[in-house]
Amino acid sequence: FIQCSTQHPSETQDIVSHVLGVPAHEITVQSLRMGGGFGGKEMQPHGYAAVAAIGATLTGRPVRVRLTRTQDMTMTGKRHGFHSAWTVGYTDEGLLTALDVTLTADGGWSLDLSEPVLARAMCHVDNAYWIPDIAVHGRIAQCHRTSQTAFRGFGGPQGMIVIEDILGRIAQTLGIPAREIRRRNFYSGDQCTPYDMPVRHPDRLDAAWSQVIDHAEVERRETEIEMFNATHPDRRRALAMTPVKFGISFNLTAFNQGGALVLVYKDGSVLINHGGTEMGQGLHTKMMQVAATTLGVPLSTVRLAPTRTDKVPNTSATAASSGSDLNGGAVKDACEQIIDRLRVVAASRLGVPPADVRFSRGIVTALGTDGSLTWEDLVNTAYFQRVQLSASGFYRTEGLHWDASVMQGEPFKYFAYGVAAAEVEVSRFDGSYELRRVDIVHDVGDSLSPLIDLGQIEGGFIQGTGWLTLEDLRWDDGNHDGDRGSGRLTTAGASTYKIPSLSELPPEFHVELLDKAHEEGAVYGSKAVGEPPFMLAFSVREALRQAVAAFGSGGTGGNVVVDLPSPATPEAVYWAVERVRATSADSAAVPS
Ligand code: MTE
Ligand code: MOS
Repeated sequence: FIQCSTQHPSETQDIVSHVLGVPAHEITVQSLRMGGGFGGKEMQPHGYAAVAAIGATLTGRPVRVRLTRTQDMTMTGKRHGFHSAWTVGYTDEGLLTALDVTLTADGGWSLDLSEPVLARAMCHVDNAYWIPDIAVHGRIAQCHRTSQTAFRGFGGPQGMIVIEDILGRIAQTLGIPAREIRRRNFYSGDQCTPYDMPVRHPDRLDAAWSQVIDHAEVERRETEIEMFNATHPDRRRALAMTPVKFGISFNLTAFNQGGALVLVYKDGSVLINHGGTEMGQGLHTKMMQVAATTLGVPLSTVRLAPTRTDKVPNTSATAASSGSDLNGGAVKDACEQIIDRLRVVAASRLGVPPADVRFSRGIVTALGTDGSLTWEDLVNTAYFQRVQLSASGFYRTEGLHWDASVMQGEPFKYFAYGVAAAEVEVSRFDGSYELRRVDIVHDVGDSLSPLIDLGQIEGGFIQGTGWLTLEDLRWDDGNHDGDRGSGRLTTAGASTYKIPSLSELPPEFHVELLDKAHEEGAVYGSKAVGEPPFMLAFSVREALRQAVAAFGSGGTGGNVVVDLPSPATPEAVYWAVERVRATSADSAAVPS
């Protein structure tokens, strides 16, 4: 019996049974909850679980394996670093015509999830933009660093940053505002992605884009920013907007299934079990809400039991943001089976056809009559009529197909959309910057749980901002003269590896959910939310690019092309400003 901080209990079970040489049914893995997973616990916990299992087998006693923070940072995998080389074609109006891009992922010492991470990166180089002619090449480099793994976005961010970087540069090359260039290149109509999937509902992205411009008063603020820049020689502000289009479902079609077990006890109380794991993203709350809604009972009637492989077998990782789609579908299926049986019982007690029975907030009513029953009463009646009060539910996402050998198909059920506007202010003396204001409109369909979704959007955005601006991994890579170094991580603690904290939060942070975004065919019309908002943080990086450019050419930023490393730490921004000032034709206009 293994208690494991794992996003993928079934795979932990598989690996441990393999290592111990016993059948899977002898191993039970339970994941009560994780203190955060973010992809890092999709595959990497299995080895440690196996170590504990061997210890327990050899000693006959409970064994605990737990890494210290430093061990964890030193030993476990991180987001794949990517190198991208590209050639782009575009018109004088800034319309993309062609792109040839080669993505090389740093896989670390073992393959881990590098292949699916690379596949998602390759499927997301287009982000929200129509690129008529495209060639995407991907490869994984093995090296002596930690074995890189899943991390929120799962390659999506590494692919999408390429096109956002390109558009930021095209805008500066042509001297057309980046906001305009991005908008011109959005998908529209029935256009298909490079892997031949129609982009359904691109109008939702347009709606989110306009809503941000409107609610964030982008045009007024752009004018104010110009005035600020004209009057502050050592500081520059900029506002950038970037979109997100993120495919929801596992690329590998088989993983898109979920299971659940729903038990109704004689007193009417409900216990649910599903195959997903809780890591702070609120999945358990959403699953209880789905059960309560489908059964028509108050939330307090439903309790959730820990995720265990002996309750729901053969589960997929809680990943790809599809936890609530897959497990919610399965919970709903199980609850509907129970409701269909109870409906018949209620119909005979209320003297109406089964189709006329309604379940809401613990009261069972019938159309066209005043009669009603309590949920508890109905359940008790059903028990005495020997009606089964439990069910196992199953869900699989329909309509998916993917041919990995040619990278073509419809791997995603739908796309999640979002738009962010970020305003920054940069100081030229030390490259330090502040994130002044952020506005987001994000598409979560008909939200299952608006407060949870807001939390996911805010958290995802800030985490993405950390990735793009602060979190700087440094490795002992030797001196590059044949000395390979140790490949060890040298930033193995909070003192050298900076993550966002309260002081990096924008003082003004507005998040709205896109209205009228019901997603047909997803659980209660909702959309996945876990990963997509992470990539809204490109707006911060692009705002920094524009602010840096504004230090050249007399402050307007026109025709200055900024090379911006990622992460764009204050140090990196400082040097970018220095380069712009050195190359800018009229840098004399900026007092030195
Ligand atoms: N939110 C919190 N608080 N903690 C996490 O570990 N993981 C993210 C996202 N949001 C995570 C999180 C990642 S990487 C994914 S894939 C999804 O949640 C997984 O959960 P879901 O499928 O239920 O959205
Ligand atoms: Mo998330 S990176 O798919 O666990």
